Amino acid sequence: MNNTHEAIEAHLGEVRRFAPSAQFAATANATVTIYDEADADPEAFWAACARKLEWATPFTKTLDWTPPNATWFSDGTLNASVNCLDRHVAAGLGDRVAYHFVGEPEGDTRTITYQSLFEEVCRAANALSQLGVVAGDRVAIYMPMIPEAIVAMLACARLGAAHSVIFGGFTADALAHRITDADCRVVVTADGGFRRGAASGLKVNVDAALEQCPQVRSVLVVRRTGQEVSMHEGRDHWWHDLVSPQSPVHEAQAFPAEQPLYVMYTSGTTAKPKGILHTTAGYLTHVMTTHSLVFDLKADTDVVWTAADIGWVTGHSYIVYGPLCNGATSVLYEGVPDAGGKDRWWRIVEDYGVTILYTAPTTIRTLMKWGDEFPLAHDLTSLRLLGSVGEPINPEAWMWYREVIGKGHCPIVDTWWQTETGGIMATPLPGVTATKPGAAMRAFPGISIDVVDQDGQSVGNGGGGFLVVNKPWPGMTRGIWGDPERYAETYWSQVPGRYFAGDGAKLDDDGDLWILGRIDDVMNVSGHRLSTAEVEHALVAHEAVAEAAVVGASDETTGQAVVAFVTLRSGFDASEVLVDNLRALVAQMIGPIAKPKRILVTPELPKTRSGKIMRRLLRDVAEHRSLGDTTTLLDPSVLSMIDDLMRATPSDD
Ligand code: WTA
Repeated sequence: MNNTHEAIEAHLGEVRRFAPSAQFAATANATVTIYDEADADPEAFWAACARKLEWATPFTKTLDWTPPNATWFSDGTLNASVNCLDRHVAAGLGDRVAYHFVGEPEGDTRTITYQSLFEEVCRAANALSQLGVVAGDRVAIYMPMIPEAIVAMLACARLGAAHSVIFGGFTADALAHRITDADCRVVVTADGGFRRGAASGLKVNVDAALEQCPQVRSVLVVRRTGQEVSMHEGRDHWWHDLVSPQSPVHEAQAFPAEQPLYVMYTSGTTAKPKGILHTTAGYLTHVMTTHSLVFDLKADTDVVWTAADIGWVTGHSYIVYGPLCNGATSVLYEGVPDAGGKDRWWRIVEDYGVTILYTAPTTIRTLMKWGDEFPLAHDLTSLRLLGSVGEPINPEAWMWYREVIGKGHCPIVDTWWQTETGGIMATPLPGVTATKPGAAMRAFPGISIDVVDQDGQSVGNGGGGFLVVNKPWPGMTRGIWGDPERYAETYWSQVPGRYFAGDGAKLDDDGDLWILGRIDDVMNVSGHRLSTAEVEHALVAHEAVAEAAVVGASDETTGQAVVAFVTLRSGFDASEVLVDNLRALVAQMIGPIAKPKRILVTPELPKTRSGKIMRRLLRDVAEHRSLGDTTTLLDPSVLSMIDDLMRATPSDD
């Protein structure tokens, strides 16, 4: 049982419950009968949602389910980019703002209307065509949070090519692996981006990555920071040279509903990240519907700020596809929360009149730590709804969000979902569902979730166990790129025929759902998924390291922090320099977010008789808990020795 669980347990005794907001109830997009209607016939519910998209050929089939493979609306055809852009422009909404772009440097802002976004996407689609991109290809996008990243995504979608957006914080090795795995032939990038006041380099990482990826034939480069970059003759093209002069018209073709839309790499339980595949119509239906109902979106008046990175699924679903399908106005902010002062966020809310704010608990906790004076110095009265995603939100942060930011009147939607689910799966609905600090409450209409024990039996109210999804849903991943076996095994075999999320959960006595966090070797650091194996793999790549065991230990700010235990090869000695080098190596191989907060060099690792490293016990050590059952260990004294060492060694951050 982890600390999150204990915190929630402790809190459950005195849980507060907030009734659905009366103010919302009167005008909410979701009605009180929506759960019953969707339950009565989930497929009909989703089919009705899907009909709100614009189809070139309307579908007649809803779901085809041959476990573990599902298709939705499969005989229909449509174009994702037309659904995000053309139809809004055709409806006379061309002047509506799609994005208020706020760059990290003060004053660096752009207003992008639906008309201008449409034209730029057409230009980019024409340029990508010129580079030979055709339907069915994959294109890698490695960009800062700038409008061109969204333009590139939509241009791929327009051509029926799948994008693979790689988070800008990843390094050359991680980038090369992802480019190769999806066999991308074209990369869209920028010279760099602005992060914490400095210009970071992106093109330089692409150059290094492409030394390992000879199949890449073209690179399109946006000039963002103006830094010096090398351009390879014949391979590299500036965006302003190739895209800007193109025609702002591009006739979009319709593609099958199941046309791949994107691949997004995420960490699993092994060192190899998995390429999660999403296709077009089911995914768009899911994100469009959830974006409208969960956030109670009024597209003509709301200003939505999903403060996430485009390199993660939250950015894909709730900065790009959900809001654009709904014709919403969003804020797109490039930088870190305290660039230009600890009140930067609240200035953005005030300046743009943000009404819906959606972010991760780690950010909420950071903003909370900085102090109330920053939000209190700004007029936040435009806010009407607050959302949380990415990790369990502790009740204290939830209450702070509600009271200090939402002034007690904004409903909070704690939304549980995953890269694999495509869109929100469990959440309260504003105006309809009551909320409790720290609870995701219940499944979204049309989604069937349960909490089960080892044998797949429902635990019922008051019980805890594994979170499963009982039936296929439109936004579900269609597989792991190039690895159908891993897909079937990871998600559909633990509880046969049901989707196994890898999260622990609990139903309280009222039947409300609480997510307790990962039950596998996946860590959640600041809302980013990392695999323990991936970090271990990086550590053992160092010549001094014999073995490594990595755990996610609970951390006040980041949710979990990476803690590593390593043993050294003979001839190498523990030193501060070595620990620094190891941390740098992880940062270089995976990215700075994976850097261990602590690395403890120990003579041995605790192992079972069969030689398995007991990570569960190392997590107890890392969290300074009394040691659990050590009887299965080959040599229990190893663990006490590590525990003593941990307590005696000052933290190295
Ligand atoms: C965790 C992010 C508790 C969970 C959209 C899941 C959450 C993983 C919540 C997916 C929540 C996400 N409460 N935990 N509201 N939302 N998680 O793929 O462990 O980056 O399995 O998708 O984040 O992370 P991913």
